[in-house]
Amino acid sequence: MSSLFLPRIIKLGEGCLTEVGKIAKELKVNHLFIVTGSLLSREPFRTIVEESIHKLGLRATYFSNIKREPTTEHLNAALVERENCGADCVVAIGGGSVIDLAKAVSVFSLNKSLRFDDIPAKDNLERLPLIAIPTTAGTGSEATKVMVITDVEKKIKKNPGHPNLIPDAAILDPILTVSLPKHITAYTGMDALAHAMEAYLSKKASPMSDLYALEAIRMIGESLPIAYENGNDVKAREKMLLGSCYAGLAFSNASTNLAHATARPLGTMYHIPHGLCVALLLPFVIEYGLEVSTDRYSTVAKCLGSTVTGRKEEIAADLIKIVRGFNSAFHIWEDGLGYIEHVETFEANLATLIADALSGNGIDTNQKIPTATDIEKIYKDLLLELQNGVWN
Ligand SMILES: NC(=O)c1ccc[n+]([C@@H]2O[C@H](COP(=O)([O-])OP(=O)(O)OC[C@H]3O[C@@H](n4cnc5c(N)ncnc54)[C@H](O)[C@@H]3O)[C@@H](O)[C@H]2O)c1
Ligand SMILES: [Zn+2]
Repeated sequence: MSSLFLPRIIKLGEGCLTEVGKIAKELKVNHLFIVTGSLLSREPFRTIVEESIHKLGLRATYFSNIKREPTTEHLNAALVERENCGADCVVAIGGGSVIDLAKAVSVFSLNKSLRFDDIPAKDNLERLPLIAIPTTAGTGSEATKVMVITDVEKKIKKNPGHPNLIPDAAILDPILTVSLPKHITAYTGMDALAHAMEAYLSKKASPMSDLYALEAIRMIGESLPIAYENGNDVKAREKMLLGSCYAGLAFSNASTNLAHATARPLGTMYHIPHGLCVALLLPFVIEYGLEVSTDRYSTVAKCLGSTVTGRKEEIAADLIKIVRGFNSAFHIWEDGLGYIEHVETFEANLATLIADALSGNGIDTNQKIPTATDIEKIYKDLLLELQNGVWN
């Protein structure tokens, strides 16, 4: 049996940010706690949001004290402010970091003593009404049942999943993503591509998740190079936003796999942005699974425009080349090298990285189940690539 969980309302299109007030009204709330990054300090976005809210008699309190990927410290600070203002709805306007923080605020506002590890097993996870408005394309968090928060004490990323973590509404306005700089367009776009690919290649893939995954792969493959080259291309930005939302729906209803399992500890240890870390590991993870998923690999390669004809094995192998090609075009390798400069420390940290990767999500759902030695090879291959690669 397979199931499909998704937000109740999804709005898509240029200018649909104006809908925020109307949607809040539909959710029967009065006071919005708006979690946001720096984008909302820019006009015209602030005015659009304020007008949309105020004309319907709603109030808003803003929380923008989040400069990095979210931690338990951000969460505690946001919970105090939400409590003080008494808001009855949480709105996220930002990248995956902001959306995940908003998800956590919506849950922990009503469940003060809940622990992250207990979330997946809860029968009914109560939370405040939640509206997600992504400004990256992206994590797809506006459509997923997952939130990722770093526990600063334990120095690990917690990523509990529960269907009630899916926001009530997602607003996909491509204008919000036009200001993304090239490198963030690339990191977040490669993350979305990895979500769709890993969902399609997962043991938990279903006919329903496949539908979203394959369409996401097509849309992202076509529009990411365009959005990267010309950030003002609103059509390409819109395709990326919808593609990343579909990719989120796909992995939320299937799973992510080894690229995410290996990226999580590496990103935490070296403070590498999530999408960059996933993009760095993706080619090696694809190579690792090549011979067990030939059919599906060749379908993905075709969706990404492979021109190889002939045997399925050859088309499947082309997928590695295509993904490597994206990494080279988007300067992913060079950026990765900037974070992992010290080879000695990397080698010394390997055992911790491997243990952490094996203990988290995304291991059992691979078509080929990785051992510690397999994961060690993937990390070492990445290191070799960064040391010796010739990328252009
Ligand atoms: N919940 C999920 O389903 C899910 C899935 C994948 C990743 N994640 C998590 O999401 C986080 C990463 O989110 P992300 O990749 O969207 O990046 P992000 O939210 O961390 O944003 C990256 C940077 O881009 C800036 N930014 C965001 N939107 C912008 C815009 N429109 N213009 C200019 N700058 C902008 C941010 O201020 C930040 O500096 C990580 O913590 C990751 O683990 C969550
Ligand atoms: Zn991801």
